[in-house]
Amino acid sequence: MVSRIIPVSPFDLVIFGGTGDLARRKILPGLFRRYQAGQIAEGSRIIGAARGDFSDKSFRKFVSDAFDEFVAENKRDKKQIAEFLKMFHYVTVDAMGENGWKELAKLVRPDVVQAFYFSVGPSLFGELASRLHSHNIANAESRVVVEKPFGRDLETARTLNRDLAEHFDESQIYRIDHYLGKETVQNLMALRFANVLFEPLWNAQYVDHVQITAAETVGIGGRGAYYNKSGAMRDMVQNHLMQLLCLTAMEPPSHFDPDAVRDEKLKVIRSLDPVEDDDIVRGQYRKGVEGPSFLEEVDDENSKTECFVAMKVGIANWRWKGTPFYLRTGKRMKARMSEIVVTFKDIPHSIFDDDAGSKANVLTIRLQPDEGMDLSVTIKEPGPGGMRLIDVPLDMTFADAFGEEKAADVPDAYERLIMDVIRGNQTLFMRGDEVEAAWKWTDPIIKGWAERSQKPIAYDQGSAGPEDAMMLMHKDGRRWREIEEL
Ligand code: BG6
Repeated sequence: MVSRIIPVSPFDLVIFGGTGDLARRKILPGLFRRYQAGQIAEGSRIIGAARGDFSDKSFRKFVSDAFDEFVAENKRDKKQIAEFLKMFHYVTVDAMGENGWKELAKLVRPDVVQAFYFSVGPSLFGELASRLHSHNIANAESRVVVEKPFGRDLETARTLNRDLAEHFDESQIYRIDHYLGKETVQNLMALRFANVLFEPLWNAQYVDHVQITAAETVGIGGRGAYYNKSGAMRDMVQNHLMQLLCLTAMEPPSHFDPDAVRDEKLKVIRSLDPVEDDDIVRGQYRKGVEGPSFLEEVDDENSKTECFVAMKVGIANWRWKGTPFYLRTGKRMKARMSEIVVTFKDIPHSIFDDDAGSKANVLTIRLQPDEGMDLSVTIKEPGPGGMRLIDVPLDMTFADAFGEEKAADVPDAYERLIMDVIRGNQTLFMRGDEVEAAWKWTDPIIKGWAERSQKPIAYDQGSAGPEDAMMLMHKDGRRWREIEEL
């Protein structure tokens, strides 16, 4: 197969927070994988900028340690790593003061693509943006990358947008939602808009309901302080699940280009119905074999923050009125499994006997693990005798379609997104108005819980969440898909 990987021109990438956890786990290993793929041109510079006292040499050691930990052993080619490390530099920079900015200005070249990755808390976004300009480092072509959380409500998101807009045009701002970088998420767009098969059926007339699940086995771990202020609604629903919902529900954009796609997603968010309290279940995991309870992990026995949420969402437009979208996410659940499941309606009339058996068609788009798609169709059970119907999967796991090696080599979301920044492609990034619309829909829900001082329901670790979450679907005569290891 001919590789279609296109090397990009040399660039300067400054990672503020370059010695932080995200850099270590995702950004730096992701860059190395792209280097190995031949996408990082000779002469590029990757500059770590943080408060810590590192030299180029000790930062390169930090980077190489990160590779040891987070790059697969069979990909760690010593010679390649040594070559790649030469591209790395470090500057000690004070985001809130003047230290280090002159040194940074000397390293960042005005005549190559410049990207500034703010891998720091949102309270520093405005400071960094302003200093990059006052020190004449950034220019009208520079790109700035910001991480979530992008605010904690509409007001804070607006402030962040305003702070960034003072110094950068919207076309320069890349708001990361790493779910958009996942391979299958983009495949969802290919499935919908590169095939004639699904689009005619993709509406309330033929779709009974959609389920979107992002279940994790991990707990809160060391992130208790952040998470207790955030909760699953802010941490997962307002961004990741919302983006999956948008890509599933949006109208076909006229082109696969940034604003066409983001305009359509925005329309979906603006069409979301407010959610009734009866249509949401929140949970917190109990103490279990896997570890302490949620309350112990956040070190707050009165915490009313949720680490599980399940909800029924309606979309008020012609395409989707009457087709509910059920969203669910939680920590310390039975298995790690993220998927979008589209359940089609029953056939209008069966010509077969009642006992022949037939189920609705179900399309499953698996994000992780074991990326792929699966469409269940009803056929005749082979053999003589009566007409007996069975459901069989038309399975398209990546591993089957492209081979184990290629499936195992699917780029991590961050790799793809960082290279999109360098290429200047904003399609898989959230626009400011999109983020604000998402908060506008989320805010009243969170405010309602706070006003009622509502406490989440306890659930067992290793389960599918609180029993009430099951009831959320049962009362509509539907069932959640099993959360299970694949
Ligand atoms: C992050 C959340 O954005 O996404 C985490 O802050 C969560 O709480 C993570 O664990 C899940 O990402 P993934 O790619 O492992 O599904």
